[in-house]
Parts: sequence; structure tokens; C-alpha cells
Amino acid sequence: MKKREFLKKSAILASTTALMPSFLMACKEEKLATKATPLTRLRTAHVGVGNMGAADLKDISSHKKVDVVALCDVDANNLAEAKKLHPNAKIFSDYRVMLKEMGDGIDAVIVSTPDHTHAPVSMMAMEMNKSVYCQKPLTHYVSEARAMKKLAEEKNLVTQMGIQVHSFYDYKLATLLIQSGIIGKVHTVRAWSPKNWGYDGPIPTGEDMVPETLDWNLWLGTSAKRPYKEGLYHPGNWRKLVDYGCGTLGDMGVHIFDTPYNALALDVPRTITNECREPNGFGFPENNRVTYEFPGTPYTAESLKWIWSDGPGAPDMHEDLKLPNASEITSANTESKEASVEEKMSLETKASGPGTLPEQGAMFIGDKGRLLLPHFMQLPTKIVDGEYVDISKEIAAIGIENNMGEPIRNYDSEGPKHYHQFVDACLGTDECTAPFSYASKLTETILLGVIANRFPNQTLNWDSSNAKFAEEEANNFLEGDYRDF
Ligand SMILES: NC(=O)c1ccc[n+]([C@@H]2O[C@H](COP(=O)([O-])OP(=O)(O)OC[C@H]3O[C@@H](n4cnc5c(N)ncnc54)[C@H](O)[C@@H]3O)[C@@H](O)[C@H]2O)c1
Repeated sequence: MKKREFLKKSAILASTTALMPSFLMACKEEKLATKATPLTRLRTAHVGVGNMGAADLKDISSHKKVDVVALCDVDANNLAEAKKLHPNAKIFSDYRVMLKEMGDGIDAVIVSTPDHTHAPVSMMAMEMNKSVYCQKPLTHYVSEARAMKKLAEEKNLVTQMGIQVHSFYDYKLATLLIQSGIIGKVHTVRAWSPKNWGYDGPIPTGEDMVPETLDWNLWLGTSAKRPYKEGLYHPGNWRKLVDYGCGTLGDMGVHIFDTPYNALALDVPRTITNECREPNGFGFPENNRVTYEFPGTPYTAESLKWIWSDGPGAPDMHEDLKLPNASEITSANTESKEASVEEKMSLETKASGPGTLPEQGAMFIGDKGRLLLPHFMQLPTKIVDGEYVDISKEIAAIGIENNMGEPIRNYDSEGPKHYHQFVDACLGTDECTAPFSYASKLTETILLGVIANRFPNQTLNWDSSNAKFAEEEANNFLEGDYRDF
């Protein structure tokens, strides 16, 4: 079944469950729907409660006005752990059943499943007028990202993508510094992560017994039926595989792209080239070097070149990345290694020394210098003519003007901010800074780079207004088939 048919079916399912009107329906005509709601507490339903889902559950429920009323997971062990923390919540293994049965009893849905399930869950929830917090990347397909944005806007719903570092001090600061013109008009961005969510190995054969605690059919969801293999898909490793994840670009890339993308007010790119190995239709390449060309904005030169590199050994050596005091370009990434999911979740990065590039990060290159933004929890630094330039006065001025307070380098206190912003927006007292209107464009940009790995070293031309590549073959990857499950 094509995705749009499935989404239509979700809409029918949602509308036949006597779910409306929720408080949002009453406010349908309002511009800021939830601002006019009488909600004083938020009832949340969580889909996917293991790993990142557990972190999402903790941070959402740490808001004093949240009641966790439903938990859903296809892995009974993860569900049992979450239930211990929220004994009053109802539990489900199938999100469709959960949404149908809970109906008017929930206000917001938190989606923390693997990427291929984000859109099917979120679309059904939004059809039912629920506010949605969805993990990054927003979707697995470009068509889904556009559909999510459209529906959220049509229904005027509160939405947020799970890029929690968007709300951290250093990223907000870097955004404001760039927009203040601290390095002039930016003409190039280089961004990198040595993490490796690629798989260059053989396509596996055979089949393993599905654990009794896992509902494999529900895990596959709308994706094609496939035999279960221990350790290959669930948990976490689905990221490496084209049918479920989006590789390193869709994983770390979303976090690392976010600040430059936001700061430079970019739209989607015009051209995309991925230098990588030949596709095998199963796993993502272990190394990607994606070059994008974006139309200019008030903060950039006439056009902007953006170079992303990932995988073992990234970033590539380049003059743009050379730091003062470095005899040669050195990176904190000295060994190539694959990040564990735990490492990923903590988003830890090695500290960078004066002549050492941070393990992950972004370099903005403008006509008045360069700005290095490590990923993450470190101040940006400015470099002009091969020397560091003190920007403490600019930082102080921007801090005062924007009421930013002191930098907080504590994940536990910074982490919940993005989640609480979503809850407060649902309660009508705040606005989300990463709503689907923003998240869909950022995700589309990421996914265009992912599609380009099917056409190694070929420049693809993207026509955003018609949502089409000039290269007809590449259009086959903008959407996929949905299985009826
Ligand atoms: N924002 C961040 O910092 C961050 C960090 C890690 C992961 N993530 C994102 O969170 C999402 C999940 O990643 P993860 O590392 O936790 O993956 P994971 O595979 O470790 O865990 C996914 C959880 O969802 C459950 N699940 C899978 N399919 C389901 C379905 N159809 N219905 C209900 N539950 C289902 C699994 O059983 C498991 O509990 C991904 O989109 C990932 O990109 C974000």
C-alpha cells in the first residue's frame, strides 16, 4: 500500500473512534489552538519506552503538570520497566489499539520508536487532534515529513521534534552570534561526526527465533515482512539499515545540523552530492561525505556550501578546519569506533584542546572569520587569520540582551527544557522552538543526503516547490510502500 493510502486509512481509523471533539477541536478555529484551551494538566501517552523512550518518559513526566496515562511498547520487557515507574498508566503493545481505546483520555503522544514508525504513529495521533512530541529525525521518508508538517498546520497542533540540544545554552548562543554577523556572511559550513551507523557487511541470511517478549510483526509495522535476526535490528541497530533508520546523517546529523541550519535560516538545498560506496539496498555506507548547495539567506553569501562527513576517520582534512596552534589538522577522533546507544544518548563528546578539533561539531566560515561550534556543551570560538579572537564581550552582550543567564553544562538540568517547553506549549503558556514546520525542513534536508547515497558521487538537483528530483530515478526513494499489518 502506498503511504498516502495508509495515512488515509489511519485518518479513517482515527475518525471512527469517537475521539472528537477533544479540547483542541473546540479551539480549531483559533490561531494558537492550545493557548485558548482550558487544560490545566497534560495526559500523555508514550509509544516506545525503551532506551531513548525511557529518557523521554523521564523528562516529560518530570514536569509537574503531566500525568502519564498510557505506555506502549512492542517489547514486553521495556514496557514492564516503564510500568514500574508509572503503575497507574494503561499498557499496550499496539499503538493503534492504544489510540483507539484511550481516545479522549489522552492529550499528547510522545513518539520514541525507530525512525520508520515515527510517521505512522504521529499521523494517526494528529488525525485525532493530539499534540505530538516526535523523536528525530522527524520521519523516514521525505513524503512523510511533508505530510506531518501539513497535517500539524491544518489542525493547528502543538508539535515538537526531539532535538533537545536545540534548547541548550551554547547552541542558542551560537545562533545569536551568527545572526549578529560575528563572522559576516557565511559561505560555507562544515559539519562532522565520526560515529558509524553504517553497515558495509553482507546481507544476512537465515532466521532466528523471535524472543517471546517481542512482537516482531508490530516492530516491523508498515515496513515489509522480514525474518527476525538476533542483534541485527532490535534494539538500536536498525539505524544502520535503509528500511528502518537513516544512518549517521539521520542520527547525529540532525543534532549537529540543527544550529547552523537554524542560525542561517536555511530552506532545503538545491543540489546534493554524496561521495560514498555503491549502495547495496540493505545497510547505509559507513562513510558519507555529503555536499549540499543552499540558496542564500540574509545571513549567508549568495549561496551556501555545506559539507558533512561521517564515519570512521571523519572529518576530512581541510584548511577550513585548521585550528590555531595546530601544527597539522588534528581531531579528537583518534580511533574509529562505533558509538553505543548509551554513548549516543548521553551525547558525550571528548573535550577539544586549543589545537584539536572537537570529535563532533560544525565550523561556520564567513567573510569575517570562522566560528567553531563543538558538539556539545562548549562555547563557540572565533578564529580570524589563523588566530583565536576573544569574543567574551559579544557573548556577554548577547547574553544580557536575550536574558540567557549563565551557561549550564549539566545535561540533567538542560535536558528537560525542550520537553517542558512542549508541555507548557500544550498548556498554552509557551511555544515550541522545534515544531514540525521547522523539523520537516531540517529532516527533508537530512533525508535528501540519505537518498543521495543511492547515487554515489552524482549531483542530484532538488526542486523543492514540486518535491521532485530532476533525476527521475531518485524520485523512487521519496516515499515507500506501507504494509498493511
Ligand atoms: N534525541 C536524542 O538524543 C536521541 C537519542 C537516541 C535516540 N533518539 C531517537 O529515538 C528513537 C528511538 O531510538 P532508540 O535508540 O531508543 O531505539 P531502540 O531500538 O533502542 O528503542 C526503541 C524502543 O521502541 C520500541 N518500539 C519499536 N517499535 C515499536 C512500535 N511499533 N510500537 C511501540 N514501541 C516500539 C522498542 O521495543 C524499544 O523499546 C529514534 O528515532 C532515535 O533517532 C534520539
